[in-house]
Amino acid sequence: MSFHTPPSGSTGYVEDVSPGRGVLPPRAWYASSDAASLSLNGGWRLRVSATADAEDDAFAAPGYDAGDWAEVAVPGHWVLQGHGAPVYTNHLYPFPVDPPRVPTENPTGDHLRVFDLPDDWPAGGEAVLRFDGVESCARVWLNGTDIGEFKGSRLPHEFAAGHLLKRAGNVLAVRVHQWSAGSYLEDQDQWWLPGIFRDVTLLHRPAGAAGDFFVHASYDHVTGTGTLRVDSGVEGRVTVAELGVDVPTGEPVTLPVEAWTAETPRLYDGVLSTAGERVPLRVGFRTVAVEDGLIKVNGTPLLFKGVNRHEWHPRRGRALDPDTMREDVLMMKRHNINAVRTSHYPPHPAFLDLCDEYGLWVIDECDLETHGFVEQGWRDNPVDDDRWTPALLDRAARMVERDKNHPSVVMWSLGNEAGTGRGLTAMADWIHGRDPSRPVHYEGDLDCRDTDVYSRMYPPHAEVERIARGLDGGTRRRRELPVILCEYAHAMGNGPGGLGEYQELFEAHDRLQGGFVWEWIDHGVDHPELGFAYGGDFGEELHDANFVCDGLLFPDRTPSPGLVEYQKVIEPVRIDAGGIDGTVRITNRYDFADLAHLAFEAAYQVDGVPAGAHRLAVPPLAPGESAEVKLPGAPDGGGADVQWTVRALLAGDTPWAGKGHVVAWGQRTVARATPPAPATGARPVVEGDAVRLGPAVFDARTGAVRTVAGVRVRDLRLDVWRATTDNDDGAAWQTDTRYGPRWRELGLHRMRHRLDAVETDGEALTVRTRVAPAGREAGLRTAYRWTSDGTALRLTVSVVPEGEWTVPLPRLGVRFGLDAGPAGTVTWFGGGGEAYPDTRAASVLGRWDASVTELQTPYVRPQENGARADVRWVELGGLRVDGEPEFWFSARPWTTELLDAARHRTDLVPGDTVWVNLDHRQHGIGSQSCGPGPLPRYYLWPEPAEFSFVFSEPRG
Ligand code: GAL
Repeated sequence: MSFHTPPSGSTGYVEDVSPGRGVLPPRAWYASSDAASLSLNGGWRLRVSATADAEDDAFAAPGYDAGDWAEVAVPGHWVLQGHGAPVYTNHLYPFPVDPPRVPTENPTGDHLRVFDLPDDWPAGGEAVLRFDGVESCARVWLNGTDIGEFKGSRLPHEFAAGHLLKRAGNVLAVRVHQWSAGSYLEDQDQWWLPGIFRDVTLLHRPAGAAGDFFVHASYDHVTGTGTLRVDSGVEGRVTVAELGVDVPTGEPVTLPVEAWTAETPRLYDGVLSTAGERVPLRVGFRTVAVEDGLIKVNGTPLLFKGVNRHEWHPRRGRALDPDTMREDVLMMKRHNINAVRTSHYPPHPAFLDLCDEYGLWVIDECDLETHGFVEQGWRDNPVDDDRWTPALLDRAARMVERDKNHPSVVMWSLGNEAGTGRGLTAMADWIHGRDPSRPVHYEGDLDCRDTDVYSRMYPPHAEVERIARGLDGGTRRRRELPVILCEYAHAMGNGPGGLGEYQELFEAHDRLQGGFVWEWIDHGVDHPELGFAYGGDFGEELHDANFVCDGLLFPDRTPSPGLVEYQKVIEPVRIDAGGIDGTVRITNRYDFADLAHLAFEAAYQVDGVPAGAHRLAVPPLAPGESAEVKLPGAPDGGGADVQWTVRALLAGDTPWAGKGHVVAWGQRTVARATPPAPATGARPVVEGDAVRLGPAVFDARTGAVRTVAGVRVRDLRLDVWRATTDNDDGAAWQTDTRYGPRWRELGLHRMRHRLDAVETDGEALTVRTRVAPAGREAGLRTAYRWTSDGTALRLTVSVVPEGEWTVPLPRLGVRFGLDAGPAGTVTWFGGGGEAYPDTRAASVLGRWDASVTELQTPYVRPQENGARADVRWVELGGLRVDGEPEFWFSARPWTTELLDAARHRTDLVPGDTVWVNLDHRQHGIGSQSCGPGPLPRYYLWPEPAEFSFVFSEPRG
């Protein structure tokens, strides 16, 4: 008797480490011009069983009646179509780790599709059945014949199908298992989403069809010539009409061409003609090399301004439609992003076509991650176990062969967070041999034994600088390689902070060739009650909550303030105040393009109101060049704020944005407004239980302000709390600077306000208090001093810390409530979009209007948001507030406490009070939800502070 019966029989393949059976060798992915093809996307029949072996394979036989099965869309994930639920874990396997065994509970989706061949389907030739992506393991039958099975979710798999096809009534049966041995290789930080999630296509393969081919198109930047050679398993001719090229396959041809770069994505249309078909080629000539310790394309070092892109759609998961892919590329281009790491698997192949066409540098990453093994010190890691090496090599080959003809792909990545081991080395060796024209990347290889670049994740700025200066130790090989940050700046919730300082380092040190922000889009799932769901919302037993919502886009692809900040920080033209007054310095920060495609405009504003715009003549500077350009004279502000804003605009339409699109801007204040009048002179008058001072009425006993200019003001008091951001809360592996939990422990969210005195002297009403949390000695002695000139009311807040403070403050300012609804209009002069001390590069000064609702940034997990920087004055709810000095402003239709308690947007219901924060200072944001906290210069340490606000009737 045995205690365990190993899997065998019809489902044994599920736990078999081998990549599959019956599958054709990998090859280039292309769409033939003339060979027939039939998309098998659309409605399929589906039956989901709880285990891999619950049902026999009778369903695969022709004639099986699946009439009572459900219907699902293919491409799609059945768990997003009402059958079962998605599961989110970051690095933990959501099942016991015992490779290659998987749980008995293994949701299995039997998919059925009956199809006829189109009338014009050719009689002869072969046919291939292609699956572009199935998670995680599939067994396939065609017309009742078992044709094989495969693993490797985000990789293509093809079967020979011609011998089994009929003209009509073909039955394609696909059994998909959620868990398989392959799941151990696919432990990426994302939702586990089983299903046939990419296209299924039947391809006719005429006699003499092209098969596999490799387009080699290099560029010699010294001679300005390109060399094209198409190696093809099947002989044929290569033509590029525009270049007059007509050569046999395998024969190189060298001639003058324009190079392909991500900035100038010049493609030449060509054709590969074999006896049996014609295949369109899009040829981009470029040469990638690691030379002198730098990644160069066409002899020029690159600076990656990249993002990590997972495939995501809030309803369709990783089953992306062509429009969504295009939208991603267009949005990247419009936000100055020039590179994508396809974290952490090869994307849908159409995405790479778009990268070729619009111009993005791509690090194509293999579908490989074994991160969960970190929990056991990487013991039994499949990448260091020879039994798994064939599967790893199969994955490497399927990526490289599929994607090798894309000029946009400039590096291969072995995978992500898989430790180190012989299997990875085998992959790197194979890739280097198969395609020596591209460097190999892998972050987990700290000694760079297998890689051609030194790649890091989330290093703090100081460490990046040490690396740049070669002061970080490590092997000699590593010190000689170019450096990229394959992940940095964790865009979870509010943030990331510190982008600008990273960019300064990248620009200052040649060896630092840029990085890839983590990540492009929040993977929130559309949910009827929760808005966007995240980990735990589907009852998962293990999950990592909203760590899956860490993108620069919200799940519906609305840009978050983080994307706007990144766009500003990486803009390809630097516009800053010149050396001499009245000039602006323009610097071309492209790697390849000159500035001829841009027009420049200088605009003045007086108190935020446009006061004239002029064209600026800027020479077509070459990359790296700068020029001082004279500005037209500034208008006289007459005591008002005056700024100029210089913008670089697209001079004409491009494929990714129209004429006039702003590529870069710079702003400078040339005259400062006179500070608000001191507002003194009036005297406080006691009237019963009230004190009247100018336009305001106070409670005589508590000193609390009741009304200003007839407007009710509720609970005005010092405020130091903010609903902690994901970056405040920090990742579990961060310790000392995770201030969110420490603030809460200290009690900053439950400060008590002790009233010490209400004093009226000749012209001021002064309220003395001490603001401190229960149980602690640390506190803030706080005085509110009110004065008035009869019309305006001035509040000066003085704060002196007492006791021992070991943490910075989240914020320092006052908050109060006004009777106003969420639709109420707010007008202000200050920074336009959300900003915090280390996320304010994109904050542009101007006069702005927004409703209170519009001031809220809809982070998927609610948290502090929506502050505006450098605010001179704001009008809302019947009041105007001028600051001295300028202040941070936010307003919400709910309290900070409610915001803090909310788990989803739908927990927040607007009330009829608008809560206003006027902050003297804010603590920085940083990136500690995964990486480092704010830089020390953005800390808000408690120290004596004094700041004033002048309240009056609105002028607008
Ligand atoms: C990285 C990992 C990513 C993601 C990120 C945090 O370590 O490579 O997949 O988990 O951290 O969001």
